[in-house]
Amino acid sequence: MNLPPEQSSAGPARLIVLDGVDGCGKSTQALRLVAHLSGLGRQVEHVREPGGTTEGELLRDLLLDRDSDLSPGVEALLFCAARRQLLEKRIGPCLEAGTSVVCERFHPSTFAYQAFAWGLPEEQVLELLHGWAGSPEPDLTLILDLPVQLAAERRGVSTDRIEDRGVDFQDQVALGMKRYAEVCFKTSVVIDADGDEDQVAARVAEVVRGVL
Ligand SMILES: Nc1ncnc2c1ncn2[C@@H]1O[C@H](COP(=O)(O)OP(=O)(O)O)[C@@H](O)[C@H]1O
Ligand SMILES: [Mg+2]
Repeated sequence: MNLPPEQSSAGPARLIVLDGVDGCGKSTQALRLVAHLSGLGRQVEHVREPGGTTEGELLRDLLLDRDSDLSPGVEALLFCAARRQLLEKRIGPCLEAGTSVVCERFHPSTFAYQAFAWGLPEEQVLELLHGWAGSPEPDLTLILDLPVQLAAERRGVSTDRIEDRGVDFQDQVALGMKRYAEVCFKTSVVIDADGDEDQVAARVAEVVRGVL
């Protein structure tokens, strides 16, 4: 029997976000989660932000280029624009076709970097993100929580203008991520990212199980 994608026996397509400071293990755990979901018989796409579309990759280059001189407000707008493009051109069509999406970085990053760490008003940034890049909404947002010093050791040297901002800034970003999880508590979960890859992957899989 051929069921429509959204009724496939593996369950409905889901949008799952992994966020957290540089080096906390997002890319590692995204690959693990994709493998896990594939093993459960699901079609899965993996995207990372900003980017994932031709236009989004151009915005990524602009945002990360050490020669770019962008205020926090312009950064927030460009991240939001790249996200909307990703939602319209890639994530939305995937979900409609029954394919789940694992996305590295999303609203928590913009909230943590541009609002919490740079000081833009939280409400304004949330209104921007939820108003202009609010659909489709993630079914689950996982914040990988790791002490910033440990994340910096895992990550090594910085490679772009946002990573360049140093440990104090990253401390604020880490607090901002947790603040996002408090504000958007219905679909956000903070996960302890300290431990080996298998341990963290098991914690992620356990929480993801609740939305499958
Ligand atoms: N649980 C873990 N324990 C130790 N090292 C890890 C763990 N998870 C990832 N790493 C390593 O830490 C570095 C940063 O991980 P990565 O997944 O690239 O983080 P992010 O995408 O959040 O920046 C990589 O070299 C990766 O292999
Ligand atoms: Mg990464």
